[in-house]
Amino acid sequence: MTRPLYIQMFSIHGLLRSENMELGKNADTGGQIHYVVELGRALSRGKTVKRVDLFTRLISDKTVSTDYAKEIETVNDKFRIIRIQCGGKKYIRKERLWPHLDEYIDKTIKFIKTEACIPDIVHGHYADGGYVAGQLAEFFGTPFIFTGHSLGRPKKQKLLNDGLDETEIEKKYKINYRIQTEEDILKKADLVVTSTNQEIKQQYGTYHLNGLPRFQVIPPGLDLEKFYPYYYGKISEPELNEHQLYAHASLLEELNRFFMNPDKPVILTLCRPDKKKNISGLVSAYGEDKELQSMANLAIFAGIRKDISRKDDNEKDVLTRMLLLMDKYDLYGKMAIPKKHDFQYEVPELYRITGEKKGVFVNVALTEPFGLTLIEAAATGIPVVATRDGGPKDIIKNCQCGILVDPTDTRQISHAIKKIIADADLWKTYSKNGVMNIRKKYTWESHVKKYLNDLKPIVKKSTASDLTPAKPSDMIGRRIIKLNSFLVTDIDNTLIGEDNTKLKKLIRLLKENKETIGFGVATGRTVESAVAILKKHNIDLPDLIISSVGSELHYGEQLQFSRGWESHISKKWEREKIKELLDQLDFLEYQEDDTQKKYKISYYMPPSKDRVATIHDLLSKNSCRYTLIYSHDQFLDILPHRASKGKAIRYLSYKWEIPIGNFLVCGDSGNDDEMLRGEPMGVVVGNYSHELEPLKGARNIYFADEPCAGGILEGISHYQFIEKAKKIND
Ligand code: GLC
Ligand code: MG
Repeated sequence: MTRPLYIQMFSIHGLLRSENMELGKNADTGGQIHYVVELGRALSRGKTVKRVDLFTRLISDKTVSTDYAKEIETVNDKFRIIRIQCGGKKYIRKERLWPHLDEYIDKTIKFIKTEACIPDIVHGHYADGGYVAGQLAEFFGTPFIFTGHSLGRPKKQKLLNDGLDETEIEKKYKINYRIQTEEDILKKADLVVTSTNQEIKQQYGTYHLNGLPRFQVIPPGLDLEKFYPYYYGKISEPELNEHQLYAHASLLEELNRFFMNPDKPVILTLCRPDKKKNISGLVSAYGEDKELQSMANLAIFAGIRKDISRKDDNEKDVLTRMLLLMDKYDLYGKMAIPKKHDFQYEVPELYRITGEKKGVFVNVALTEPFGLTLIEAAATGIPVVATRDGGPKDIIKNCQCGILVDPTDTRQISHAIKKIIADADLWKTYSKNGVMNIRKKYTWESHVKKYLNDLKPIVKKSTASDLTPAKPSDMIGRRIIKLNSFLVTDIDNTLIGEDNTKLKKLIRLLKENKETIGFGVATGRTVESAVAILKKHNIDLPDLIISSVGSELHYGEQLQFSRGWESHISKKWEREKIKELLDQLDFLEYQEDDTQKKYKISYYMPPSKDRVATIHDLLSKNSCRYTLIYSHDQFLDILPHRASKGKAIRYLSYKWEIPIGNFLVCGDSGNDDEMLRGEPMGVVVGNYSHELEPLKGARNIYFADEPCAGGILEGISHYQFIEKAKKIND
């Protein structure tokens, strides 16, 4: 790698900020948030890294801190958190974000254009971040890294095993959409980073991989300055800061509220109140074993809560179950269930208190993809008892710092805990192994070293990340983002028509100015039929094709379909209902099937004064939202209310940050009317049809004398379009 890298990471859901993370505040604000921020920090320290931007969703909502409404949070001089809005400003749980991700992508592209810097690497986290990063990668030809954190298919299986009903799961978790998205992501990713080996086999293994993509196990690192061993405190007390001392003291006070014999060793667990964390398994193991109760106290830190009755169902169930078991086994005086803790200072102190009391950390989740808390515990010198399902296997193998158990076997759990607490030598061995081995194997420095090394074969050396000039070999997104001027023309009777004598000259002119001017067509034809007629006239495929009267948009030679445009126009579109209504009108004749599209219903209609009004009447009486376009005295097109050729151009202007005034737009008939109006440089060719007569004299609309391509050329020189485009780019 010769050039320092600009890395963009995407972690869309949850509450994300660099300081005072609210881990556990809700189901979407957990280990992933911590992981991505730490990864960003560590990467930004890399010499070969120019800059890291971590993208998340902007949330401006009275129920959460205003920190999440800040557009740019500077973490250090090479690392920023970028917040981009989508789907409004309120907090939305991750399962409901899917419909808004295309909006997120569009706004990210705007951001990239404004910053004038294309990333060298995009890295998506979780399926939502993976979708966004994958789409950007495809557009810009940028290498794409993915980290799942957790995957939909194993989760679905788990929920089914729990006895949940398939439709219920789908309703609540949109799980099938997530799984499909993950399948797509895995087809595109250049590299998938996992934390453990078992993740590759047992989780990714449930997807259709066919030997691709490439996987790399890189365990996350730990902030060792934060998770130093429990015995440090005693040695260097004066150096501890006031926050830490306060946290330590108040935690002890808190525990003392619960414990009758506070000096006994503590069995600690720390997790979200999620069923799969199996808190009830641990409480039962403790409750069933009187001997264990006499040896040690149990402390459960299960997220943050004010009022259990107002938590969501899963959390409410878990917490209620915990309280009921505490009561059933009469664990009063032995079991602590504090209602809150902060992550910055209290969590590390909590481990250290457990260490001082010669306790044990327990994570007996039914399945644990990684097990970050186990690593934290081990780093501070606490022996662990861990589930044998998932990542903990690797941790115990690498660190030799505790015992693996079957999480569904409560006797195994209590025996393992007793074994460690009762045997001081064993306790010491596990404690020391943890402290030493974590420092060797689980630091962010070692993570980043491996990560950057794995990027070497992937990063393209030749592509520059700045925006000038546009090269013919550029991927379509890379090309469009460098352009600031566009010529968009209708096809039939405008670009191509009865008089094609000037067509070659026009195409040559566009080719010569390809570095500064983008070329697009906007047509009533379907994309297939547009491609066919362009080919027939030996015209290379343009940068974009707005087809079916603006109801579809495709980019470049690969005809990349714009999902952004689709999701924008699809709102409130009721094709079936509209068609049924219009089919009642006997003056309408449904056009051939191959002209019809999901977002376009077309009829033939002979002209007559009242007919258009009749249609408007019928549709609005039935509260339909639509756009009606009538042209050439015969074509009637009904489109979604947000669609039309002109609106598609405005969307492009918005998304790619190209001022609408820098578009030169050409047409000949009624279905060009609305795209010619307003700010673009409008050109009406000499052979226009009478519907455009009213545009005469309108501002910014030039009526050419020559027909077709000749008229377009005339318009180009009228506006001095080429000269202007060059000037803009200078
Ligand atoms: C093209 C399409 C047709 C449409 C007309 C006007 O001819 O094939 O479906 O109605 O353009 O937009
Ligand atoms: Mg036309």
